[in-house]
Amino acid sequence: MNKTNNTETITRRKLLVNAGKAALGTAGIITLAAALPGFPSKAEATGGSTEKWPWPYVKLDPDKTAELAYQEWYRVFCGAAVINSVFSQLREKVGEPYKSFPSDSFVFLEGGMAGWGTVCGSNAGANIVSNVIIGPRIAGPDCEHGHTIGSEMMQWYSETALPVFTPKEPKQKTAIVQTTSESPLCHVSVGKWMKKSGYALASPERKDRCARVAASVAYKLVQDLNAWKDGKYVTKADWMPGKDVGITAQQNCNECHGTKVPAPPSAKK
Ligand code: HEC
Repeated sequence: MNKTNNTETITRRKLLVNAGKAALGTAGIITLAAALPGFPSKAEATGGSTEKWPWPYVKLDPDKTAELAYQEWYRVFCGAAVINSVFSQLREKVGEPYKSFPSDSFVFLEGGMAGWGTVCGSNAGANIVSNVIIGPRIAGPDCEHGHTIGSEMMQWYSETALPVFTPKEPKQKTAIVQTTSESPLCHVSVGKWMKKSGYALASPERKDRCARVAASVAYKLVQDLNAWKDGKYVTKADWMPGKDVGITAQQNCNECHGTKVPAPPSAKK
């Protein structure tokens, strides 16, 4: 079997599936993987020789975590707030390697990454945390490593009227309206909230809304991680766009494309 001839058609997922099969030896897989640009070697995919992860997790209190995220938002914004709400506690309870994790460096996730309005930093932060704790590779529900918490967070964030968490001592006493973003994107999420509430980006209300969204995400994240730790986590995420529609995307194609959703070249429709 000439393995390199297969690299054009074989997908990464198939490759991973094949990795578990006896047909190709480990050496064959590594050769094949090495031939694909950007595909991690087997050693890298399982943490490599120098990096060791996943990291240990002990169950945390969702309420306490959400309060921490809320406070931290005012210091380091959404992404780093979600990360630090979990990792600051694990620093105390577990110690290293959490003590060395530079949570604050993720301040750049603010504003959908450096103000570009891409993925909401709360989602990015949640994915970073769950991936550090659960293990290699992201991807959807069919992922061999069973890491679905990150994917599910994106779906939950998109479908939920946010924020759901109200801090014990809110910095803004005015009512904060809830909006459903139908998207994991900062720009869409914040934009829909600004439209419904009438508050501008720089308003204290918008800031408090985002702090509460980060807290809401941190709450759910720890709920999910606790369930996972107990072996009781069952995903509701069912979105595998690469496989289902041939392009990575959020689910509601029509919201951006209208009725004429372009079909990617490889889509079999
Ligand atoms: C958040 C908005 C948004 C969503 C949701 C979205 N797209 Fe797109 N998509 C775009 C933009 C913007 C472009 C680039 C401009 C364009 O071509 O319309 C694009 C480009 C594409 C392209 C490249 C080819 C082309 O004709 O532009 C394909 C294919 C595509 N989208 C398919 C999809 C599918 C399928 C879905 C749903 C599974 C989807 N998109 C969801 C915004 C979106």
